[in-house]
Amino acid sequence: MQQKKLWLLACSVTLLAIACSSSKKNNPGGTIPSLKGVYKKDFTIGTALNSTQIEEKDPQAALLIPQQFNTATPENIMKAEIIHPQWDVYNFDMADKMVAYCAKNNMLVNAHTLIWHSQLPPFVRQIQSVDSFRTFFTNHIKTVAGRYDGKVYSWDVVNEALNEDGTLRKSVFSQKLGDDFVTEAFRLAQAAAPNTHLYYNDYNNEQPAKRAGCIALIKKIQAAGVRIDGVGIQGHWHLGKLPLKEIEESIEQYAALGIKVMITELDIEVLPRNFQGADVNQRMKADPTMDPYKNGLPDSIQQKLADDYRSLFKLFLKHKDKIARVTFWGVNDGQSWLNGWPVPGRTNYPLLFDRNFKPKPAFDAVIAIGKKQ
Ligand code: XIL
Repeated sequence: MQQKKLWLLACSVTLLAIACSSSKKNNPGGTIPSLKGVYKKDFTIGTALNSTQIEEKDPQAALLIPQQFNTATPENIMKAEIIHPQWDVYNFDMADKMVAYCAKNNMLVNAHTLIWHSQLPPFVRQIQSVDSFRTFFTNHIKTVAGRYDGKVYSWDVVNEALNEDGTLRKSVFSQKLGDDFVTEAFRLAQAAAPNTHLYYNDYNNEQPAKRAGCIALIKKIQAAGVRIDGVGIQGHWHLGKLPLKEIEESIEQYAALGIKVMITELDIEVLPRNFQGADVNQRMKADPTMDPYKNGLPDSIQQKLADDYRSLFKLFLKHKDKIARVTFWGVNDGQSWLNGWPVPGRTNYPLLFDRNFKPKPAFDAVIAIGKKQ
């Protein structure tokens, strides 16, 4: 009898040890809840991925990413300068790896981005004739969107085509192809990728003037009988200055067009900045006052960041019937593009995980508000 009890006890201890080690494997902190789990019924939760993460070269990231996120956007590797470096050269290596990585980890891919005026390969700006430019435009969309149809969930077909006042941005695309290039891009994407969701994506398009331009653009695509499935609000916002009212109005007004709304590149800037938004061409000079938290983020700012993230997710949850996805622009603070833009070499803190992949108070706030509903 005594022996049987001892044997049972030994079995339970072994089982407990196995359970603990396997939960640690999927959960580097051992006890961290997951964003994708807590928001499972509401919307998908994404992150931007870089090459190091896609190739699983960082073991901590490799554990954390599949545990927390169920969708991912390539931060750079599907942009034209990488995937289509020369007129007749395509480089699908990393994009294929990303598709495989996400398939293995049950994550949907939001491919980013087919048509954008930035991060273009140099040959594009050297094309002289309109006919050749149109050939490039058509080949690019057909080849890239066609290859990944059925393999990615969605495409940001056109990125950042609008000015702040809602008019169409002067870009190599509008100059060569005219104002209809956005509709044309969607028409080509629809033909090349019939099984892929097609989105328009921009920053500051929650602001009234730009939003009105964005709505007009979407209506124009729809009126041409061309498919558009959703709109991305990038969500590069600033600490203590969240445009909550404008975000809410935008979610409602975009959803009323019969399309999905997504927050596609969420981060919250905590450092000084003299402009809002994410125009990658805008830069500021480095000086020590611009980089105040080199040695760590003060608790008071940490708390403010948590408060801001809490308010945002409260709003997203209120409109969960209209929001399909919320994607953070990066996994942890160390990897964020905001360390290098618009001022090079700063120490920024815009995300939910710190440089050591430790969840910040902002993470706890997002989890808590998600659990409370
Ligand atoms: C950024 C990347 O994060 C950086 O690594 C790169 O140097 C520049 O582009 N809006 C977008 C994203 O749509 O593609 C941009 O990503 C950030 C702004």
